[in-house]
Amino acid sequence: MSLLKPRLKEKLRDGLSRWYRRHRRDLPWRRTRDPYRIWVSEIMLQQTTVKTVSPRYEEFLRRFPDVEALARSSEESVLRAWAGLGYYRRARAMREAAIKIRDIHGGAFPDRYEDVLGLPGVGRYTAGAVMSIAFGGPYPLVDGNVARVFARLFGLRGDSKAPTLSKKLWALAEELLDRRAPGDWNQALMELGATICFPAAPRCPACPVARHCAARLEGSPEAYPSKGVRRRRQGVRLEAFYIERAGRVLLWKRDGDERFLKGHWGFPEAGRVEAVPGRLLTAVRHSIMNFDIFLELRQAALRGGAPSGHARWVPVERLKDYLVSSLWLKGLSAHGTASGSLDGVRSFPPKLARAPSV
Ligand code: ADE
Repeated sequence: MSLLKPRLKEKLRDGLSRWYRRHRRDLPWRRTRDPYRIWVSEIMLQQTTVKTVSPRYEEFLRRFPDVEALARSSEESVLRAWAGLGYYRRARAMREAAIKIRDIHGGAFPDRYEDVLGLPGVGRYTAGAVMSIAFGGPYPLVDGNVARVFARLFGLRGDSKAPTLSKKLWALAEELLDRRAPGDWNQALMELGATICFPAAPRCPACPVARHCAARLEGSPEAYPSKGVRRRRQGVRLEAFYIERAGRVLLWKRDGDERFLKGHWGFPEAGRVEAVPGRLLTAVRHSIMNFDIFLELRQAALRGGAPSGHARWVPVERLKDYLVSSLWLKGLSAHGTASGSLDGVRSFPPKLARAPSV
């Protein structure tokens, strides 16, 4: 079934493609067709901004230059390379995907849509992005930017994540896809959303397809798409202990049942170890996924012996090798310990990114 008139499709394709060739940003992942590198960029960009991703992308690739390197890495080293990017589940899934590529696909990044979609952490969006950008395959994609562009262009109201509208958006993406250059086309749509068709105060006079835009003609582009119901953020109070003995600090490995930071090293939460709480070192706020966390980091003295299993004594100067999440790093840098031996920690990672909100 055809949703759009052939003449309109042609105009949209020509206008947007020409604009993209002239105005595309020179981004690190646009200088390669290596599917591994494209995949890494698309996973990183899912919940993190281009500005934050760019330097971290290059660093990650120096550390893990190919599938093989990622597949033989430890989970902890991947989490560390992901420090500050948030949504660490993505990093863990990438490592599992690399192992699958090595063990099942003979080490070569798969070039069939179904195989790409079968990798851990890869959904319809990522599969479409990798297939079209790296292999030039005829696969559409819809992300938040594309959804907004289409909603405005075609005057579609509603929640773009709700099944009815989502189905329509994917159908439009499929029909409008420029099969001569699917990768450039998909990126052109995302680029328009990212640099012109902003959620608030879009730059309509600079838009190459403004004359075809239903929302613009109606005079209220910002009204599209209507906002979905926002997930409520859940407030969490976290009391954690800073327990130091002879230059070592007690860290705790969180297990897979935790609500956030599963598998991360962190300071032990109250209740996990038997300790006598002392003075409050610092209190910080930090968001992880839909949790709004209020962390109180308190000095404490261990009662009895060190607990086994989850706990490890780590020299103060090595804390930075263990603490990955900005939650703990914010706590550390805010409290500026009495010992002054945390200088190295305070500067790590170079840029403390706030975990993006959902
Ligand atoms: N957002 C996610 N991937 C992108 C890409 N390849 N180009 C522009 N914006 C993007």
